[in-house]
Amino acid sequence: MANIYFKNLSKIYSKGTKNEFEAVKGIDLEIEDEDFLVLLGPSGCGKTTTLRMLAGLEEITNGEIYIDDILVNDVEPKDRNIAMVFQNYALYPHMSVYDNIAFGLKNRKVDKKIIDEKVKNAAKILDIERELGRKPKELSGGQRQRVAMGRAMVRNPKVFLMDEPLSNLDAKLRVQMRNELIKLHKDLKATFVFVTHDQIEAMTLATKIVVMNEGHIMQVGSPKDIFNSPKNLFVAGFIGSPQMNFIEGKLSLNNGKSLFVSDDMKIEIECENIKSNNQELVLGIRPEHIIQVEKDTENSIELRVNFSENMGSYKNIYASHGNVDLIMQSNTEDILSNNEKIYVKFDKNKIHIFDKQTTLNLKEM
Ligand SMILES: Nc1ncnc2c1ncn2[C@@H]1O[C@H](COP(=O)(O)OP(=O)(O)OP(=O)(O)O)[C@@H](O)[C@H]1O
Ligand SMILES: [Mg+2]
Repeated sequence: MANIYFKNLSKIYSKGTKNEFEAVKGIDLEIEDEDFLVLLGPSGCGKTTTLRMLAGLEEITNGEIYIDDILVNDVEPKDRNIAMVFQNYALYPHMSVYDNIAFGLKNRKVDKKIIDEKVKNAAKILDIERELGRKPKELSGGQRQRVAMGRAMVRNPKVFLMDEPLSNLDAKLRVQMRNELIKLHKDLKATFVFVTHDQIEAMTLATKIVVMNEGHIMQVGSPKDIFNSPKNLFVAGFIGSPQMNFIEGKLSLNNGKSLFVSDDMKIEIECENIKSNNQELVLGIRPEHIIQVEKDTENSIELRVNFSENMGSYKNIYASHGNVDLIMQSNTEDILSNNEKIYVKFDKNKIHIFDKQTTLNLKEM
């Protein structure tokens, strides 16, 4: 069992000097037992710093970390019952796989027979039994990654911390390791905290995603929540590929109808939280929610195709309406020529409305 709780946690590097830098800015977070929690955000947003504070490898500037209701701010890393797997695996090159996995246990003078049992059991789960006698340099990237996992596993930690452990692997191996991590998480019934800047990794692995930006938490939720109901412009733009389209405009209240108006585009919107006529808004619509229609369909929008990308089973179409550039996805078999006119509609239920000033999603309040 491991519940983790961050209370107003912050990290200021070089505090008191002119190079002072606040990397983590007072975050509150609850990680529940058996969560597969993914810290997701752009480079430099404070993911590694947060993870290292949890591991005890980085001093906490302000705030508190609790593990199972025990304040651990001053608890030594080795006494936190946490195992960390690093991006570069940090294996000892001169030791065999067996000795790499056994290393921590040997150091703690654990009984040889117990070590042997644990190493073999971990190797079995990770499918590296045949590699136990080899040196790290004789292994593939994925196998090395598994050795690093094995070394963490034999300690029976309550919490596994992983900092971009898959980033050194090629695309195919990464998919395979993702599936293995999901399986491992199920089998071990431990809490996982996993850092990545890769949204696909986050979407496929997480039970809960924490989106961070510039030292702040922007949103916490299931992968589905984060994708379907982004709380603000940052999350909406960060999750999803190609990115959500954003169109700046204003609200126009007209005969009881709410219209989003941008240049000569007028789109009827339904949103309870819009306030005043002329309120500045940003409309968000994902590429997959722009639908091609016949020309004379009511409220259709005319687009001019700039170019299209064939993605195999679908196309990314880059088009514009006046000064507004849009990306849409389409299953059309038609060959679209550049400059061709097409007509589209926005899927009404999938339109997001953000307040331009606060950046908040007015449909998710
Ligand atoms: N030892 C340090 N001294 C000063 N600033 C630091 C130190 N370590 C990190 N930082 C800064 O703190 C911020 C957060 O760094 P951190 O390593 O936590 O980012 P990250 O989210 O893990 O990024 P990445 O995805 O690139 O690994 C960055 O702006 C970084 O430059
Ligand atoms: Mg990092």
